Amino acid sequence: MDYFQYKNNRLFCEDVSLDQIAETHGTPSYVYSKKTLERHAKAYLDSFSSENNLVCFSVKSCSNIAILEILKKAGCGFDIVSGGELKRALSIGADPSKIIFSGVGKSKGEIEYAIKNKILSFNIESGSELTRIEGIAKKLGIKASVSIRFNPEVDSGGHDYITTGRKGDKFGISSLNEVMQLVGHIRDSENLMMVGLACHIGSQILNLDSYKAAALKTIELADQVNNLGVKLEFLDMGGGLGVPYNNEVPPNPRELVEVLESVMKERKEVIVLEPGRTISANAGVLLTSVEYLKDDFLIVDAGMNDLLRPSLYGADHDVWNTNNNIKKSKNWNIVGPVCESSDFIRKDIFLSANEGDVLAVRTAGAYGFVMSSNYNSRPRGAEILVDGDKAHVIRSRETLEDLIALERLPND
Ligand SMILES: Cc1ncc(COP(=O)(O)O)c(C=O)c1O
Repeated sequence: MDYFQYKNNRLFCEDVSLDQIAETHGTPSYVYSKKTLERHAKAYLDSFSSENNLVCFSVKSCSNIAILEILKKAGCGFDIVSGGELKRALSIGADPSKIIFSGVGKSKGEIEYAIKNKILSFNIESGSELTRIEGIAKKLGIKASVSIRFNPEVDSGGHDYITTGRKGDKFGISSLNEVMQLVGHIRDSENLMMVGLACHIGSQILNLDSYKAAALKTIELADQVNNLGVKLEFLDMGGGLGVPYNNEVPPNPRELVEVLESVMKERKEVIVLEPGRTISANAGVLLTSVEYLKDDFLIVDAGMNDLLRPSLYGADHDVWNTNNNIKKSKNWNIVGPVCESSDFIRKDIFLSANEGDVLAVRTAGAYGFVMSSNYNSRPRGAEILVDGDKAHVIRSRETLEDLIALERLPND
C-alpha cells in the first residue's frame, strides 16, 4: 500500500497535490512519500518473530540521503555496493555495524574506506577479492569481517538482466569446493574473520519457492561451514522480492519472512535481508509534463535519461494523469525527448491526456533517479520528499551550469 491517491480527481502524495508540486518545482521531478517508505520498512521489521534479524535497505535502489535517514530512523541497516554508497550511509550517521558491502568489483580504495569504518561485513564474491581484503586488513593491522556470497543455483525467474543466482551469472561463488577452501583460509587467517554466508537470487521475484530453495541450500552450507569449526553470526538471504508494477501479485514481506523463519527455525544465526525495491519502488513517482501530442505519441519532458528501466529492461510502469477528470481516453505510446528510438516511458497504455497535463509514472522510487544520467546534456530533475502536507526539495534540479561545471578546455 502507498500514499499516492486521488482526492477529488486530483492525484495527491500524502496531503500534497502533485499538480502543486509540478507547478512549484517543475518537471521532471521524482516525488517520494515518507509515510510509504516508513510503512514498507515496518512491513519487514515487524514481520520477524524474534529480534534475531537485520534488515539492510539496498541503497542502490534509491540513495538520496534524506531517504536513507528515514530508513535509518525506522530501524534499517544498509546494503551498499560502492564507496559512494558508504559515504551516503555514513553521512546520515548510519551505524557501520549494520552495513553490508556487496558487489563483485570492490576497489582497493573502497575496501580500505569500509575497513576503516568497521562495517559489519564484506560479502565477498571471489577468491581474488578475499586476497585483496586480507592484504589491506593486514596493512592496516585490522581483522576484516567477511561473509561469502555463494551461488545457490536457483533460477528466480524474471528478466535475464536481474537474475543473479544461476551458474554463469557474474555474482556469487558457484563452486562449493571453492567456498569451503575459502572458509578454511579465512578461519586460519590473522586478518580475516568469517561472520556470515550470503546469497541474492535476483530481483522482482514473484514466488517464494526460489527463496525456500535458496534458504535450504544456505543452511546446508552453513552446517558444512560449522563443521570446519567456523561459527557464523548471520545468514544473509539478500533482497529481490517483487512489487506490483502493473497487475503482478507478489508475496508480501511477512510471507517471505515466514518462509525463511520456518526453514531456519533451528538456526542461531541472525537472518539478514537486503530489500530495495519493495521498500522504495512504490514510495516514489516520476512527475512529467506532456509537451506534445503526435499521432499515438504522448511526448513528455522525461526521457530515458530520467527513467532508464523501460529502455533497459522493457519495464512496464503504470502511468496516471494527475487530473483524473479528463474523459477522452485512448492508447498512447509515452515517449521522451531523447534522440533514441528506445527512449520511451511506456508503450501502449490506455490513458486520458492533453498537452500540458502532468503525468505520474508510478513505482519509480526504485532504480529510478539513481539510474538517471545527463545523456543528451539534459540536467537531472529534482527530488522532492513529501511528509504530510509539506514538500521538501531533497535534491535540487540540476542547472545548465551544472552540466559543464566539471569540464575544462585543455588550454585553460
Ligand atoms: C546483493 C543485492 N542485494 C540486494 C539487492 C536489492 O534487490 P531488490 O531491490 O530487488 O530488493 C540487490 C539488487 O540487485 C543486490 O544485488
